[in-house]
Amino acid sequence: MENPVTAVIVGGGHRAFTYADLSLECPEKLKIVGIADPNPIRRKKAAERYGFDEEHCYENALELAAVPKFADAIINGTMDHQHVYTSIPLLEKGYDMLLEKPFAVNEEEMARLTDVVKKHGNKVMICHVLRYAPFYYEIKKRILSGEIGKIINIQTLEHVSYHHVSTSYVRGKWSNSEKSHTSMLLAKCCHDLDIMMWMMSETEPCAVSSFGSTMQFNAANAPEGAADRCYDCKHIDSCEYSAKKLYIEHPQRWEFYVWDSLEDVENPSIDEKIKLIKGDSPYGRCIYKCDNNVVDHQSVLVGFKDGATGTHNMVGGSTFPSRRIHIVGTKGEIFGNLEDNFFTVSRINASSPEERDVETVDLSALSTQLDAHGGGDIRMVKDFVDFQRGETPSIACTAISDSVAGHLSVFLADRSREQGGAPQRVDINKY
Ligand SMILES: NC(=O)c1ccc[n+]([C@@H]2O[C@H](COP(=O)([O-])OP(=O)(O)OC[C@H]3O[C@@H](n4cnc5c(N)ncnc54)[C@H](O)[C@@H]3O)[C@@H](O)[C@H]2O)c1
Repeated sequence: MENPVTAVIVGGGHRAFTYADLSLECPEKLKIVGIADPNPIRRKKAAERYGFDEEHCYENALELAAVPKFADAIINGTMDHQHVYTSIPLLEKGYDMLLEKPFAVNEEEMARLTDVVKKHGNKVMICHVLRYAPFYYEIKKRILSGEIGKIINIQTLEHVSYHHVSTSYVRGKWSNSEKSHTSMLLAKCCHDLDIMMWMMSETEPCAVSSFGSTMQFNAANAPEGAADRCYDCKHIDSCEYSAKKLYIEHPQRWEFYVWDSLEDVENPSIDEKIKLIKGDSPYGRCIYKCDNNVVDHQSVLVGFKDGATGTHNMVGGSTFPSRRIHIVGTKGEIFGNLEDNFFTVSRINASSPEERDVETVDLSALSTQLDAHGGGDIRMVKDFVDFQRGETPSIACTAISDSVAGHLSVFLADRSREQGGAPQRVDINKY
């Protein structure tokens, strides 16, 4: 039996459990030996699920940092604005870390965290799970092979479905930046900007500009006579965003957010769920009358030092979720949709009557284990374990410095949007 990497969960929400579950599938690789979380239900759940005793349950990151180090690494799955203050004392204690994105919510936090990591030399990997989706991983390999030449332009797109945008960014945890301390671009698209920067790693971003607004989900668009809550509203059966249609008729939809407050009830009934939605659940509010202040769509334009350009378009409220990438190089192009499980590589061929050669790269053999991130979640944790053991990490593996370009571009894109699109200079070498 190999010696597994040992890890303590800090912030036992659904993300941390997703990663920690590798220990159940591959106990020879990873062993979970403790948890720090103020929520006693989550502490108990982790201790039972991963088999450690109460002695290794702590109320928060600080309490854990106060006892002698007893594991190799931390899996930090706290909420966005908690990442930096929960991480620093544990990094100072010498733990390595798998840290959720966004790893910081502003430039000042980013500088503090990168300074601590530089000083203590910890191995810190950010959960850029999309890098590990076979779709993006294979595209990166094609770029590294040089077959499309030097990149001239990169376009990425994320469509956030109507049920996802309404659950997370209008009614839910990331809807109000004063409470979540995150913008929609940071919470949703730091992945996409990371993918863009990863594909463009031969150069670096030097300027960004951005526009976006809350165009759809605001009071002016509420149907005539709409009530504040869906179960008091005459439009409950006709509005596509009514809580009845979205969550009661489909109780599994975003269940880990919508039914989060029922986690102490074993198998809650539909009547209990209706009672919650009719009560004070944020998910029972009229979609047009929430306290959301984040954008529902945003476009970002990036200039790179070598003269290349890039765009990212995020649109919330689409009929289905979708991520797309189109990269144009001096010799050819790569194009595909994450959901399709294939992409095409076309190469300029002046001798051919078709003017180009087109290859379709089928990923179905690689995508046996699909999750919300195209199969990236579990592959990423496996890479973290290899990174920990000093084995050669994959091409997707990130040191914290590799995540700076994407995060910084997001912070500055948001500043540009707030200033009506004014270009912002990007300098990743400050971090
Ligand atoms: N990588 C991805 O693709 C992806 C996808 C979704 C969410 N996320 C990110 O994952 C993170 C977690 O999201 P979630 O929905 O699992 O969150 P969650 O709210 O379910 O879990 C956070 C946990 O942190 C605990 N906590 C709060 N303060 C703490 C402290 N001081 N010390 C220790 N624990 C503390 C809370 O009690 C809670 O159990 C967020 O940053 C989110 O943006 C990443």
